[in-house]
Amino acid sequence: MAERLKVHVDPDKCQGHARCKALAPELFELDEYGNAHEAGDGTVPAGLEDKAWLAKSNCPEIAIDVTEE
Ligand code: F3S
Repeated sequence: MAERLKVHVDPDKCQGHARCKALAPELFELDEYGNAHEAGDGTVPAGLEDKAWLAKSNCPEIAIDVTEE
């Protein structure tokens, strides 16, 4: 069975660049200040794993963690 991924945004590092939301809108939500947090509990739906890694690698603040469960 494939590993299930989770995304997590570190709120102390996020500066609101919003690249995560642009690249993986299914996985991230922005608050009223433009800072991101993971959608739901951060679980990455099947088929969106590449977007999770893409968002992580494109965050200028290195605020996104992708973990394998
Ligand atoms: Fe924040 Fe990085 Fe997204 S700074 S808004 S987690 S691209």
